[in-house]
Amino acid sequence: MRDGLHHILGLATAFLLASIGAALADSSEEAREQKLERLVRQDCGSCHGMTFKGGLGPDIRAERMAGFTPSAIAAVILDGVPGTPMPPWRGLLSEEDALWIAEYLRKGGR
Ligand code: HEC
Repeated sequence: MRDGLHHILGLATAFLLASIGAALADSSEEAREQKLERLVRQDCGSCHGMTFKGGLGPDIRAERMAGFTPSAIAAVILDGVPGTPMPPWRGLLSEEDALWIAEYLRKGGR
């Protein structure tokens, strides 16, 4: 009787730990994507427009961005455009982040 209970508790603990591990892995990737999405909407949107159709900076909607490769867009994001208000984001964003944003813009969302 006691052994049986221990066995069940052991299984339950193993299952619980496995689910927590999976949830943590998912939530950190999800958290990173939410953080990047917020940055694009707020910070990039402040110059490129709330809907990205342009403002101080040019139109960066999917229809236009589809004409650029993800790495070309990521390079502009990381290094900015010297001599213009487009700032370099290197330091704040990794290359991986910049590529994620490039894909995000090309797709027009996640
Ligand atoms: C302070 C204003 C400002 C902010 C903030 C800003 N941009 Fe820009 N961005 C510009 C301007 C101005 C240009 C045009 C530069 C030029 O004359 O070539 C530009 C150019 C670009 C281009 C090239 C578009 C093209 O048609 O050549 C991309 C892509 C871009 N920005 C993406 C972003 C992203 C993504 C962010 C946020 C991480 C961002 N920008 C934040 C002002 C800004």
